[in-house]
Amino acid sequence: MNSKINEIVKALRMDPHPEGGYYKETYRSEGVVNKSALVGNFSGDRNYCTAIYFLLTSENFSAFHRIKQDEIWHYYQGSSLYVHVIDQKGEYHRYAVGMHLDQGELPQLVVPAGCWFASSVKEIDDYSLVGCTVSPGFDFEDFELADRKALINQYPKHEDVITKFTRS
Ligand code: GUN
Repeated sequence: MNSKINEIVKALRMDPHPEGGYYKETYRSEGVVNKSALVGNFSGDRNYCTAIYFLLTSENFSAFHRIKQDEIWHYYQGSSLYVHVIDQKGEYHRYAVGMHLDQGELPQLVVPAGCWFASSVKEIDDYSLVGCTVSPGFDFEDFELADRKALINQYPKHEDVITKFTRS
């Protein structure tokens, strides 16, 4: 499995992502939206849209984080991917991005702006290759990694899942 993962990471020229896994930005629109036209407290101008490949392995996870725009996930290959979302009402949902349609999985998922979310690979000893698209375009300025203690304080009933998918 490791050689297959290394092959994909190399072929798609992916880099380690600070939230866990590997990524490669594949698209960044040339067009820019002026900060004054953006709704949602952005710190500056943003490209219209960006897209990435994202690869996660079973032994790793993408830690709880949030961004200021909706994020659209697309399934490509490998294991289905669990996306763990704490929505704006404080409710936890686990969605599976994948092609087991009979099990309720879907090839696309939208994580609404401002929700805390994490992800993990469904199968053991496997990987998930997915895509993530955001509009306005991604900027690390809009990316906030969760603090474990603070998130548990805010959502004590989700302590287990928060502990599992944050790094201390
Ligand atoms: N570019 C770099 N990191 C990310 C990310 O986490 N999501 C999206 N959509 N684009 C990125």
